[in-house]
Amino acid sequence: MSITIKTLEEIERMRVACRLASEVLDFIAPHVKAGVTTGELDRLCHNYMVDVQHTIPAPLHYTPPGHTPYPRSICTSVNHQVCHGIPSLKVLKNGDIVNIDITVIKDGFHGDTSRMYCVGEPSKQAQRLCAITYEAMWLGIRTVHPDHHLGDIGQAIQAFVENAGYSVVREFCGHGIGRDFHEDPQILHYGRKGTGIKLQPGMTFTIEPMINAGRREIRQLADGWTIVTADHSLSAQWEHTVLVTETGFEVLTLSDGAPPPP
Ligand code: MF3
Ligand code: CO
Ligand code: CO
Repeated sequence: MSITIKTLEEIERMRVACRLASEVLDFIAPHVKAGVTTGELDRLCHNYMVDVQHTIPAPLHYTPPGHTPYPRSICTSVNHQVCHGIPSLKVLKNGDIVNIDITVIKDGFHGDTSRMYCVGEPSKQAQRLCAITYEAMWLGIRTVHPDHHLGDIGQAIQAFVENAGYSVVREFCGHGIGRDFHEDPQILHYGRKGTGIKLQPGMTFTIEPMINAGRREIRQLADGWTIVTADHSLSAQWEHTVLVTETGFEVLTLSDGAPPPP
């Protein structure tokens, strides 16, 4: 697959899909409380997407090569789960941190975004991990400019995260996005400045660093999807979809409830 440069019409459709994805995260926020199951969060988001937004939840039945079809409409990754946690009967408890990852399809285009939610009051260490990961995502976003290279994004994220004492997951990355959920190029969250292709206006891609409090190694659970830290340390992730503009970047996955940039 090659990189798609979006036309002005396509960018307008990306803006709509991306805002809708962010609005699902706004909608679910008050429901993320001790006692709720991740399956209930999935049901609420699914119904909101399908019945209120008239969007399609892209994860449902999504089947990338080497995978079984994904069985739910959102991903919920709790504590040491890194990404792709499958909503289930698992009950959230006070002190948990949970990533909710939403991808909607509207008018043929995908919008992909995720946030961390605190259940009650997590430990200071857990809150710091979430905050550092959020700042890392934004440092990556702020490097996006047509004079800059793909490796500049990864370098900015990796340097900041490792300086904070955390590690960057290598096996999963950001991705081009548009008519397809996962398009070229891959957006690594580690790397070296000046390496990789140059960014071009009209490219749309995600930046979604997965950051572990301990070692960077991961394992996949027997469900074929859920990724966890090998050392059981906590993991956090935030995700935005961004557009490369003539002068820099535009974050597409914003809405009234999105936390402000750091
Ligand atoms: N939304 C995830 C991403 O950011 C992908 C989830 S794939 C799924 O790329 F099948 F697990 F939903
Ligand atoms: Co993504
Ligand atoms: Co996502």
